[in-house]
Amino acid sequence: MSIGSLIAADLVIAVLAAAGWLGGGAAAAARRRLLALALAGFALLATVGRAVTVTALARAGWWFAAEKVLIAGPLTLAAVAVAVPRLLRAGDIRSVAVPLLFAGYAGSGALLVTVLHGYPASAGAGLLTVAGVLAATAVSWRVLGARPSGTVSRTAVAVAVGALVTGTGLAVAPAAAPAVTHDHRYEAAPEVGEPTRRFTLTAGTATVRVSGRDVEAWAFNGQVPGPELTATVGDVLEVTLRNRDIGRGVTLHWHGYDVPNSQDGVPDVTQDAVLPGQEFVYRFRADQVGTYWYHTHSVSDVGVRKGLYGVLVVRPAPATGVDVTVPVHTLAGLPLPAPRTEPVGAGTPVRLRLINTDSTTHRYALAGTPFRVAAIDGSDLRGPTPLADTAVLIPAGGRYDLVFTAPATPVALFVDGRAVYSTGPVSAETGAWPVLDPLTYGVAAPVPWSRFDKEFPLVLDRGLDLHGLLPRYAHTVNGAADPDIPTQVVRRGDVVRFTIVNRSLVVHPWHLHGHHVLVLSRNGKPATGSPLWLDSFDVRPGDVWEVAFRADNPGTWANHCHNLPHADAGMMLHLTYS
Ligand code: C2O
Ligand code: CU
Repeated sequence: MSIGSLIAADLVIAVLAAAGWLGGGAAAAARRRLLALALAGFALLATVGRAVTVTALARAGWWFAAEKVLIAGPLTLAAVAVAVPRLLRAGDIRSVAVPLLFAGYAGSGALLVTVLHGYPASAGAGLLTVAGVLAATAVSWRVLGARPSGTVSRTAVAVAVGALVTGTGLAVAPAAAPAVTHDHRYEAAPEVGEPTRRFTLTAGTATVRVSGRDVEAWAFNGQVPGPELTATVGDVLEVTLRNRDIGRGVTLHWHGYDVPNSQDGVPDVTQDAVLPGQEFVYRFRADQVGTYWYHTHSVSDVGVRKGLYGVLVVRPAPATGVDVTVPVHTLAGLPLPAPRTEPVGAGTPVRLRLINTDSTTHRYALAGTPFRVAAIDGSDLRGPTPLADTAVLIPAGGRYDLVFTAPATPVALFVDGRAVYSTGPVSAETGAWPVLDPLTYGVAAPVPWSRFDKEFPLVLDRGLDLHGLLPRYAHTVNGAADPDIPTQVVRRGDVVRFTIVNRSLVVHPWHLHGHHVLVLSRNGKPATGSPLWLDSFDVRPGDVWEVAFRADNPGTWANHCHNLPHADAGMMLHLTYS
């Protein structure tokens, strides 16, 4: 069983156990003896089952089990110790109602800690849970008219009040470290020489036609995607961004392009958002070859979805053969790009540059020819071997370059089963094809570092965020949400390792700005294929990724989930140089 399924199974069992105890308590209170015994027996079984799932999670990594062991564990033990002996010697079934309810409150409280708080387990959350469980038990006592002894109730009240006060104090205390202030905003653009490629992108609302329908979009130069920006390595790009009427502002972020910090296009971090009537000029040298894209980073979840994105391709030399970009996007529920068919002469080299500009993973399948994955996220792979009848999964923001020599018969590229590009009619059933694992593809090379100067765990989850104006159910990193996630501080030259752990039930496509990270391992297994230098990678539920990079691009950089609604809902932090 994968760790992701184990996390889900553990959650379901915890719900069943809590429901069993509560139901048993209710049945006992109603003097339904058989039902009470059956439900309590069921709850006990589920509780034993949970011991198994929690142990398995703890073995997969402490991040997955911390609060379950430290908070749910003692509460459950206490509940079982109270409820079971009473159950065994109960004459009047009604006398076990309160012990069973106590076990139910304990299970529910522990469940709330997992769902609302998660990792790391904190004393505040533990104490608040204890207080809640004791209070609920005391209320049940009163309501059911049972008379606990004076000492028992006085002790319970004292513990509950103490736990409530201390727990609240700990829970509302400010996060461990305040975010550093961003002071790079007005840093001048570096001198990079005379521009050789000049573009102007004007952002504005526009009506665009998709699959025969008119769609209200936000567009660069009136088109979705925006104009394709191309350059030859060594060119100096100068891109003037103008905002005609996007009220919430726009910027240009060069996704996967490790530009100087001042050109990175993150509002309030590297520049101010460009408001209607304003402009900003980006200038940088195109010194990385490969497939990239650009998009607005101002209210990016809305802006990108509505169409403020485009392709950036830097070639080593003018293109030879057929070189096609396939930027996949979903605009108002309609898939882009429109399918296109063009015959290609047999023997022609073809390069398909696949780009996922959506917030979720897409599945790509190339039918009719063997192919190689020449590059991922702009970096060439080492020793890629031919593949056939194999699909690739591209994370949000990610790019794969597929290359092949055109055969005499037609080929077609399918995205989630829809033909997007073809050289002629192809009918193929690609849905059952195996998926390429890039961690085992191509030829390995030694990791260039043997020690790490800085280590950062990033535990991804969901949780209640109380630090904003309104409480929200945020996407969290290490138990906190933007802007309360402590900034990661590195020094120039540091070799930095991230351990990224997904405790949640959804995929988080991770994206660090300004650097490419080298994948070291996933779920404890070292990467054995070509070195993978990524800027976007899917951390699936239960996954643990270890990645590393050299801190060689000073500035303050966004580090976030590229499922952009998740980033907006808290899953965003920053990395800065001291
Ligand atoms: Cu493609 Cu911070 O984003
Ligand atoms: Cu996410």
